[in-house]
Amino acid sequence: MKCRKCGGTAVLELRRHNAAFCETDFVEFFRNQVREAIRRHRMFDRDERVLVAVSGGKDSLALWDVLLDEGYRASGLYLDLGIFDYSVESRAKCETFAAARHAELLVVSVAETVGAPVPVIKEATRRPPCSGCGLSKRYLMNRAALEHEFPVVATGHNLDDEAATLFGSVMHWQTDALPRQSPALASTHPKLVRRVKPLYRLSERETAAFAFVRKIDYIVEECPFAKGATSIQHKEILNRMEDASPGAKHNFLFGFLEKARPAFERAEAVTLNECARCGQVTTGTVCAFCKLSDQVKRAR
Ligand code: AMP
Ligand code: FES
Ligand code: ZN
Repeated sequence: MKCRKCGGTAVLELRRHNAAFCETDFVEFFRNQVREAIRRHRMFDRDERVLVAVSGGKDSLALWDVLLDEGYRASGLYLDLGIFDYSVESRAKCETFAAARHAELLVVSVAETVGAPVPVIKEATRRPPCSGCGLSKRYLMNRAALEHEFPVVATGHNLDDEAATLFGSVMHWQTDALPRQSPALASTHPKLVRRVKPLYRLSERETAAFAFVRKIDYIVEECPFAKGATSIQHKEILNRMEDASPGAKHNFLFGFLEKARPAFERAEAVTLNECARCGQVTTGTVCAFCKLSDQVKRAR
């Protein structure tokens, strides 16, 4: 196998691109895909500060690595979910990365803000742990960005994540979720920051290879509550399709973004209010996060 760029020995074959790369040219290919994502969706400008939500996993640390190397003023945000050793280790990975790169890392604790860590929220709500967890993550990312005056939050969602989410939404025809599936969500209210996913053009395998080549030390274990999650099953199905026909995931997601997504965009805009309790954006009077913390407090 020869590198498409330099003709040297290739270390990685990318079947969906019908290409193979040596280490150096793969890193350049990866950064180019991120540049293209940022440019195409006008994710952020050179003069804007970017808050990168980092979980300690390969994707978000790879993203932070690229943005710092590209010269962006990118700070990290780690949300401590309080999930036993998993959280202790993933936080340590983020702190080590931040220290090595002399980058700022903000840490927000779910236990302090919601009133209990994710495992206790799970018991209090009797809902799957990921529902209270996902809600808290989205809320706290936005709140931290506002408090620290970042106009935009970037997450490490990759092509596999996005294709699996789309697959799940289509399986259940969750038509209200489809317009929100996008590499870039604009701010629709002064208290909502922009949300972007600069890795949406890169697969999980590619981010793993990038993290390896760049010697990024990340947490390999998944969250202990993720076992058996439908999103993982959807990823397995899509991987089987990808094996049989390289590019399947890409075509599924990109076809949706280009051809189908506009059809699901709602004509009428939803009215956004400020939560009567915390002031963050909600479609009702009290936001879902405040309701969740009430529920947790009552249960304790
Ligand atoms: P996941 O939903 O775990 O696949 O994570 C998707 C993205 O959300 C990651 O790439 C991160 O950008 C962000 N994220 C997940 N967990 C955390 C966390 N504990 N703290 C900060 N960001 C996170
Ligand atoms: Fe949220 Fe696992 S429950 S990361
Ligand atoms: Zn609220």
